[in-house]
Amino acid sequence: MKNTAKTHFSEEEKKHTKIKHDLFTEALKASLSIANSLNYKDNSNIPFMYIDLYAGAGKFCNDKEGSPLIALNLISEYLDKRSFEHFEYIVAENNEHNAKCLDKNIEKKRKDLKITDRDLKVALYCGHWEDLMNELSDYVQARKWGFVFVDPFSLELNLPELIRVLNHNIYYKDIMILINKNAQERVLGKPESPDIQKICKYFGIEEKALQRLINHIKRNKKGTNEDIIQYLTKKALQNVDKDFKIYAGISRTREGELENADRFYLALLTSSIGVADSFLYKYSELLEEKEFNNNGGQQSLFDSSPQTKYTNLEETVQNIIYQNTEISLYKLTKTLFNVFLSWKYTEDNEIPHRRALTVALNNLLSQKKIQFEVIGKLPTGCVNTVKNKVLAKAFNSKENLKHIKIKVLNG
Ligand SMILES: C[S@@+](CC[C@H](N)C(=O)[O-])C[C@H]1O[C@@H](n2cnc3c(N)ncnc32)[C@H](O)[C@@H]1O
Repeated sequence: MKNTAKTHFSEEEKKHTKIKHDLFTEALKASLSIANSLNYKDNSNIPFMYIDLYAGAGKFCNDKEGSPLIALNLISEYLDKRSFEHFEYIVAENNEHNAKCLDKNIEKKRKDLKITDRDLKVALYCGHWEDLMNELSDYVQARKWGFVFVDPFSLELNLPELIRVLNHNIYYKDIMILINKNAQERVLGKPESPDIQKICKYFGIEEKALQRLINHIKRNKKGTNEDIIQYLTKKALQNVDKDFKIYAGISRTREGELENADRFYLALLTSSIGVADSFLYKYSELLEEKEFNNNGGQQSLFDSSPQTKYTNLEETVQNIIYQNTEISLYKLTKTLFNVFLSWKYTEDNEIPHRRALTVALNNLLSQKKIQFEVIGKLPTGCVNTVKNKVLAKAFNSKENLKHIKIKVLNG
């Protein structure tokens, strides 16, 4: 059944929605934790903003919590630490019934978690968030850290407009956007239908330009609707100055079960390697769970040892290094982290999270396919030159990664 604002929260949380929430939770948790450490390091307590533009009702009928309540749970873990002066919590919900439920759910949650007005400044807007574009834009500009969640059902979004609002002082803010690939593909399958206007609006493209793009990708390049969507998405988000733009494919739930297909992309735009890594690690866990279930509860043979587990990732890493002859570990990570990952086709052991990447690099080092060199000053514990190994600590910061150069051995 098609999701509508009315029915969505009166049903149980669907399996794919749980996946979205698991990934959202990990990314927001990491975002808070990193802002907390930076506040601590700078001996400051700058507030954290949480913005949820398509907030929903807060709860499903089986009591499972939606994004605004999940965010409150995570925020509450920082209240005793007093590392943030306070939190700013801006939620917009267009549907009146949902907004009323959300208001009640937030109030109850605040009471349960003993969150005071002083600690949490709440602004709940019942209406289209687009009505607040100018105010939001100024507000985002004035804040240092934060997390923005953009979770529309379908095509009710204008990406360039959203980016115009958010793309200020953006460095320390993380953005997560749910992209309904399925709805887009449905429309692209009928390019003569008036619905094509929705795609034009979504990506901020004129109809003629879209028709030319469709012809070019489909006829000249023999590409698919998915290629068109990936191209348009990347283009719409190209001006957001973020080191990592990860698009994780998510399936949808059909008759209570997850399909083995890519129906949504959950896009994470971040400049924090820690946020990107937490998101990727969770995604690999979810894929592992999927593969385990698809295998009828059998562990994959390749999962047994780290020496064999990451062979696919090793190959990808090796190809990138060989294409470049030499590359900083930062650039390599950036290349690997800017990807469209597929729920259907990507295997858990291909996800380049920090642990997997460390193993893949060390396998290539021990096979004498690559070598590394330290450029300038690097904190201790990032590499072991005696054992010829890159250590997980290298991935703790982008600065560390910039000081490690990887080269083809004898290349
Ligand atoms: C997928 S649901 C949000 C789910 C929520 N983020 C969660 O994780 O529980 C999308 C919600 O956005 C609301 N909505 C749609 N267009 C909107 C707009 N322009 N401004 C604010 N809310 C909107 C819908 O009423 C619906 O409740």
